[in-house]
Amino acid sequence: MSKEPLNRYVEHGVDAAPCSPMEPPEARADPTVEQIPFESLVLPLRELLEEHQEYEKVLNVFEKSLLELKQKEWRFSPEISSGLKRFFQFQDERMIGHHRKEEKCVFPFLREKFLATGEHSPTGKPVTPVEVMEDDHLELGQSACLVFNLLGLAPRLEDAKSRNVLFEHAFNLGQEIVERMRLHIYKENTVIFPLAQQLISEDEWGVIGKMMQEI
Ligand SMILES: [Fe+2]
Ligand SMILES: [Fe+2]
Repeated sequence: MSKEPLNRYVEHGVDAAPCSPMEPPEARADPTVEQIPFESLVLPLRELLEEHQEYEKVLNVFEKSLLELKQKEWRFSPEISSGLKRFFQFQDERMIGHHRKEEKCVFPFLREKFLATGEHSPTGKPVTPVEVMEDDHLELGQSACLVFNLLGLAPRLEDAKSRNVLFEHAFNLGQEIVERMRLHIYKENTVIFPLAQQLISEDEWGVIGKMMQEI
């Protein structure tokens, strides 16, 4: 197995595989990591992958709602409000739990394997691809919170110029969340999860499965 793709993620974080609407990430699955069909994945990974699929749908609606809001010059419609609300609700009710399952159950085992096989940054405190994923989780939570607050505050401002600045900032940050999380999901689906299945033993998956149920 080549170390190149993983070390690239460690060194460059989210910029390692830039996303373009003209070239969807699915078309560029890393050829050095063997892909595993859904039916052959261990149950804990299937569960996480299904949650990704649900989240991608919510992200699509969130992106569409933000675009419509901008097109309507920052005037909310019931449809826009419900698309935005769905994202923030999903974020609170489902994604926090999803990230907890990854961080508390799967990643500790995977981090150990990466450290044992030398898949980490070459100098200083060892950084593995797991830490890169955890940084994404943290930043997503912070950005989502900021967008939520900006969208709540902007309509209350009387000064049109200031209102537009806040809406514009919320819009850009929201778009960033969508792109970053699509890329994050792509990396987990095509690199992190296949490697996790390869490196973590059957017994360990048994433990992970139990931990995920209790979380
Ligand atoms: Fe994740
Ligand atoms: Fe995930």
